[in-house]
Amino acid sequence: MDKRITVCDFAALKARGKKIVMITAYDAAQARWGEEAGCEALLVGDSMGNTVLGYDTTLPVTLEESLSHTAAVRRGAKKAMVIGDMPFLSYQISTEEAIRNAGRYLKECGADAVKLEGGTAMLPTLRRLVEVGIPVIGHIGLLPQSVLKDGGYRLHGKSSEEAAALRKEALAVQEAGVFAVVLEGIPAALSQEITALLKIPTIGIAAGPHCDGQVQVISDLLNFGGTYLPRHAKVYADFYQSAITAIKQYCQEVRDGSFPEER
Ligand code: KIV
Repeated sequence: MDKRITVCDFAALKARGKKIVMITAYDAAQARWGEEAGCEALLVGDSMGNTVLGYDTTLPVTLEESLSHTAAVRRGAKKAMVIGDMPFLSYQISTEEAIRNAGRYLKECGADAVKLEGGTAMLPTLRRLVEVGIPVIGHIGLLPQSVLKDGGYRLHGKSSEEAAALRKEALAVQEAGVFAVVLEGIPAALSQEITALLKIPTIGIAAGPHCDGQVQVISDLLNFGGTYLPRHAKVYADFYQSAITAIKQYCQEVRDGSFPEER
C-alpha cells in the first residue's frame, strides 16, 4: 500500500472480486498494527464503549470520545481508510446536526469517511451527508445502538418478512449514496443475496463468508479484553494471557529486586 485507500478502491476491489479487510482500531498503536498487517480500512467503532471504555453497551459513547479516538487512529495510519463511527444520538436528532457532527470527523480528525447505523429511518440523512461530500458507510441488520429497543442482540432477517425488509433497506441505502454497507448479524444466505444484489461492497460481521469484505472487532481478534467473546469471533492471538504473564513477571522482579537491572 503506498497511497491512501479511497472509496474508489473499495469499488474496484468489489469489481475485481477481491475481499476488503477491515478491523476496528481505537488508538494509534492499533492503527499501526492494522495498517502494517495490510488491512484496507480501520473502523473507529463505537464498540470502543464495550472494548476499551468499560461500558456495557455502545450507548454511552460520546461524540467527543469518538472524535478523540478517531484522531488517534488517523495519527497511527497513513494509508488505510479511517472511518469514524458516529455514536448514539450524534446523528439521529436532525439532519443538520448529523452533517455538523459528521463533518467534524473529516475536518478535525482527518477521517476518510463516517459510518452510521440504520436503514429506512436514516435515508434523508444519508442522502444529505453524501450530497455535501461526506463519504458514508451504511449499517443494517443487527444495530447495537438499538439494543435496548430490541431487547438484546439477536440475528436479524431470519423470517421471510424481515429478510424482505433487509433486502429493501440494502437497496435503499445504496440509492441514498453510501459507498459500502455493513451487514451485521444476518443469515449467510441472506447476506449472499444482498451482496449479489448491490453494486456497492458489503462488509460483513456475523453475516457469513459471502460478503465483499469482513470487519472484526480488534479486541475479539486479539482477545485483549479477557471478557466476553461473541460466538462469531475467532481469536488469532491471546493478548490478555500474554499481558497477565508479562506483568506478573514484572511484579515479581520489582519485588525480588531483579528489576531494574544494572544497565
Ligand atoms: O462499532 C463497531 O465496532 C461496529 C462494527 C461491529 C461493525 O460497528
